[in-house]
Amino acid sequence: EIISQAKQLLSKMTLDEKLGQLSQVSSAGAHIPDDLADAIRQGRVSSVINEVDLATNNELQRLALRETRLGIPLLIGRDVIHGFKTIFPIPLGQAATWSPEIVEKGARIAGQESATVGVNWTFAPMIDIARDPRWGRIAESLGEDPFLCSALCASMVKGFQTDDLSSPGAIASCAKHFAGYGASESGRDYNTTNIPENELRNVYLPPFHQAAKAGVASFMASFSDLNGVPATGNRWLLKQVLRDEWNYQGVVVSDWESIKELQVHGLSASEKESAYLAARAGVDMEMASHCYIDNMAELIAENQLNQVEVDQMVLNVLHLKFALGLFENAFTDPLILPQLMNVQNLQAAKEAAQKSCVLLQNKSRQGNTPVLPINRGTIRRIAVIGPMADDGYEQLGTWVFDGEEQHSVTGLSGLKAAAGEGIEIEFESVLCTSRDINTQHFDKALELTNNADVAILYLGEESILSGEAHCRANLDLPGAQVELITHLSQSNTPIVLVVLAGRPLTLKPILDKVDSILYAWHPGTMGGLAIAELLFGDVSPSGKLPVSFPRVVGQIPIYYAQKNSGRPPTEESYVDIDDVPVRAAQTSLGMAATHLDTHFSPLYPFGFGLSYANFEYHHVNISQREIKLDSAFSVTLTLENKSDVDAEEIVQLYIRDLVGSVTRPVKELKGFKRLLVKANSSINVVFEMHTDDLALYDICNQLNVEIGDFLLGVGADSSVELSVSFKLIN
Ligand code: IFM
Repeated sequence: EIISQAKQLLSKMTLDEKLGQLSQVSSAGAHIPDDLADAIRQGRVSSVINEVDLATNNELQRLALRETRLGIPLLIGRDVIHGFKTIFPIPLGQAATWSPEIVEKGARIAGQESATVGVNWTFAPMIDIARDPRWGRIAESLGEDPFLCSALCASMVKGFQTDDLSSPGAIASCAKHFAGYGASESGRDYNTTNIPENELRNVYLPPFHQAAKAGVASFMASFSDLNGVPATGNRWLLKQVLRDEWNYQGVVVSDWESIKELQVHGLSASEKESAYLAARAGVDMEMASHCYIDNMAELIAENQLNQVEVDQMVLNVLHLKFALGLFENAFTDPLILPQLMNVQNLQAAKEAAQKSCVLLQNKSRQGNTPVLPINRGTIRRIAVIGPMADDGYEQLGTWVFDGEEQHSVTGLSGLKAAAGEGIEIEFESVLCTSRDINTQHFDKALELTNNADVAILYLGEESILSGEAHCRANLDLPGAQVELITHLSQSNTPIVLVVLAGRPLTLKPILDKVDSILYAWHPGTMGGLAIAELLFGDVSPSGKLPVSFPRVVGQIPIYYAQKNSGRPPTEESYVDIDDVPVRAAQTSLGMAATHLDTHFSPLYPFGFGLSYANFEYHHVNISQREIKLDSAFSVTLTLENKSDVDAEEIVQLYIRDLVGSVTRPVKELKGFKRLLVKANSSINVVFEMHTDDLALYDICNQLNVEIGDFLLGVGADSSVELSVSFKLIN
């Protein structure tokens, strides 16, 4: 029905009106300037980006519906990336929950909240596979792994869009940035990417394909140059792969001025040629620049672009407007939607933050029992130290246009709320990060630490240091934070480090100076309370890393699903004594794929995260040792919680395809489950699998399941040993 309604409407449109439907313009704020109002009246605007004032959005829709010849409503776009008013953890943190349910709920709430002001289109999820923590946008990603990213992105799409895009509170989502953006050379944003087709198909494209299958309403073409042709002008990518192979029928939007930038890339000589290249490639709507609207009529008149193709671009946009129900219901009545930041939304944000935190280290420098959880009954005084402890803004992270810092529960306020009676909390916010450094505060902090039963340091990376165009070449804790930690480590008081950051940082320099490390990412509005409850052990930490943590920047890119190479490093080929290059001294040549001056493994592997519980994996087994192609099989195991605390564990299933027509990664995640296991009990776990789950893009770049030998393992992280062998047979 939508298709015929759109066609009918198209048949009434003039060329100018059609071209108007391909144009997205930026809002000018609550006061609508005359030129924008006139452009809307003339049907030259299809979508407005970045307006979040309810009355203004309703007025923009009124202009479009009531003062244009055909009354076509507007798409109102906004980057609602990890929450609108209730801010959830940054997407990388959400990925650390390994919970499709949490991610879906977060997107649902973000969508509903943004819909209350008239937004009907978000530019999320960002599903660029990110294996370079120098890249600032890793914060917005779902991490390094195609399987995890695919599972979570489908949930995010469902969360935003629900099962019915026209229902109240549902908004259109956008799979971005298609494709390969995460592989920007040297982690510099907008930089060139060179990704061989086989790797593109096996690693970078699967989440996008999954998003398309999940019904994502739109795709955004990336800014970046993919193998010599910027994605925005890449007909192979946008037509052959997206439209022809995947049969994707939604809207493709450019990134901000990325059509115009085709000229800067050196792919076109003029804005007119940029418009031609992007339209021929398959970009339906132009964001922010005006190459289409200024040049397309001429391109059609000159027969460079064909009217049928342009009509299809317009139809794609109209379909979305019909699917959103905007023709019947373009005006927003916030009263029919749940209230912003209501109790349930805040509770969901707290739960997401709690499940996103990853316990990286939990020991005691004194060699006694681990410092966490903090026992409320045995401590009297807590020293809270650090500039991130009571800063409502910094805990929100990147891409927070609409969240407000005054609503944040900070680390300090969370601790005060969770500590209960009788515990004294003293705070010193030491200036030590990148913006300000004042080493005089260090002594005051040491005094507080010495006088406390435990010191909790809230350090890390300010929000501004990650996100778009915020890339770093050095990943140590910025400013004088390492110096501060070193100074405080003189004290015998146990030290817990809570890291708030938008990316993996290189933590090696401080590991032995603190007792415990909780990695909290940028946890959002409720982060402080979520963290406090974890520190007190009300809930056990359960997040696991969605990305490998390097020891040093020189290891990047480092990711678990690497290829074996002809000369893989082994423990025998390396003697690791505090990263002193012993192996280099012992042999004249390295002879293995590793560095001389650091271990070949990451500091923390993908999937890693500690718990207050003690989990053991038993009896990992597979239903058949020989499995015929195109059939189902199952993997079973027993998970035992050998502790006195109830806790959730993320069980991870990895395989290795030993021989392929193209070389295969040493490990590939193929399943995961987040499971609650009660104290001192065991559960049986079953993974239902199918041989199709083992498919790869083969030497001919065809999706294929290849017969042969495999290894499998199930465990707590990607360092698990793959000890079960099986065979795929014809
Ligand atoms: O959605 C974003 C994109 O990720 C980066 N450039 C701007 C777009 C719209 O704000």
